[in-house]
Amino acid sequence: MSKQISVIGTGYVGLVTGTGLADFGNKVTCVDVDKTKIDMLNHGQIPIYEPGLKELVDKNVRERRLSFTSEIDTSIKEAEVVFIGVGTPSKENGEADLSYVEAVVESIAKNLDGYKVIVTKSTVPVGTNRWIKQAIIEKSGKDTFDIVSNPEFLREGSAVHDVFHPDRVVIGYESERAKEIIQDIYKALYIIETPFLFCNLETAELIKYASNAFLATKITFINQIANFCEAVGADVHKVAKGMGMDGRISPKFLHPGPGYGGSCFPKDTKALVDIGNKYNVDMSLVKEVVSSNERQKKRMVEKLERLVGGDLRGKKIGILGLAFKAETDDMRESPSVVVIYELLKRGAKVIAHDPQAIENAKVIFGDRIEYADSEYKVMSSSDAIMILTEWNQYRGLDLEMAKKLMKGNIILDTRNLIELQRAKELGIICEGVGRK
Ligand code: NAD
Ligand code: UGA
Repeated sequence: MSKQISVIGTGYVGLVTGTGLADFGNKVTCVDVDKTKIDMLNHGQIPIYEPGLKELVDKNVRERRLSFTSEIDTSIKEAEVVFIGVGTPSKENGEADLSYVEAVVESIAKNLDGYKVIVTKSTVPVGTNRWIKQAIIEKSGKDTFDIVSNPEFLREGSAVHDVFHPDRVVIGYESERAKEIIQDIYKALYIIETPFLFCNLETAELIKYASNAFLATKITFINQIANFCEAVGADVHKVAKGMGMDGRISPKFLHPGPGYGGSCFPKDTKALVDIGNKYNVDMSLVKEVVSSNERQKKRMVEKLERLVGGDLRGKKIGILGLAFKAETDDMRESPSVVVIYELLKRGAKVIAHDPQAIENAKVIFGDRIEYADSEYKVMSSSDAIMILTEWNQYRGLDLEMAKKLMKGNIILDTRNLIELQRAKELGIICEGVGRK
């Protein structure tokens, strides 16, 4: 039987998973405190850029399985299952900020009537689900609910695909009743034989952090190897390919770049170090990953500085790509933010292009940088170009045109999109990461 679900927090995760759950046949209300977001959704607009999402939202709204509201109290009262999908950003000291989760817990406790399953989808430190359970009991005086930890593994840019084809669904649970309800919600995935992993709450919480930290470590490892390649004249792509041919290693997440960014790897690696400290467990490997990744971003600016002759003052630098990866407008912890601030600090002038992230960039940089509506406008009269995001349109860059438009002839390609030989033939000095 279809379940009435309330998804609290309609961001990158809440909106995509809420829509996916509706498409699985459930009745879903996505809730957010941000009324502008809810108004947009109620007018058929999608507040984020995520390929394929609009079509899916439209379909499920049309078929009356999906709706949007800022009435959190009503939504919780009406739901049998409440998903928590609010943000858990980093505090200054790296610890996960649980204030949004705490606010949702207050609302749930206030509106608890009858049996409900509370499902945490937000990435939360080990022990948080147990705390949520206790807090709701204390605040409401009731224990007519079960708690489930169901961490999310979707990637931005391919989130819609990931919701329908997850590698696994992790369910941390305590009661058989809740387990059955969750299995029913995810019936559509059961049918296509998606692997489900059932465990206790702490295990589910740790699987999420361990997975993100491991992927971040893999990227950091290949970035360090890329830097090694530059020192000795090796080609990092061949090294990664050769490593990846070993089934135990796998070729995935071995692409070197300007350092990982995004709303999760940076905050989750820092949070894991913080949780380790709290439990007195050695997380020194992850700690080093965090620092090495910061160095990698700065290293890109140092590389560019060397390429332009040691002084960035007064140089006009064209940035291609602001989002932390392609196919998203998300700029949270994007390497571009560190790179651009560093360029400005060193006296450079910056003009930037991104197919989707310009509006988000304006909120961060305001009028400290210029914005261009095409990659070729960025090139015009630039001393050097820096490619920071692997958008497909930059892969097919017209290098002849670039050479004509640019004042200088330097391209720092931090995503290794450009054919170096072709650039050389045109008289462009192009450097990538881990190949020369
Ligand atoms: P987000 O910032 O895009 O969305 C969070 C939403 O929650 C915002 O729209 C905000 O207005 C809303 N909100 C805050 N407090 C609220 C409240 N009290 N009631 C209702 N709504 C409230 O965040 P996100 O990227 O969707 O991430 C959410 C969680 O999912 C995080 O813990 C994150 O680590 C995890 N996660 C994210 C991704 C991803 O790709 N972004 C993937 C897996 C897991
Ligand atoms: C990541 C994980 O892949 C998801 O499984 C997880 O659910 C999510 O974090 C989360 O917890 O929020 P996401 O941040 O959307 O997803 O994007 P990724 O594709 O993982 O890329 C993260 C960063 O690593 C980007 O800056 C990307 O450019 C970089 N990256 C990725 C590399 O530099 N090299 C690679 O080989 C892969």
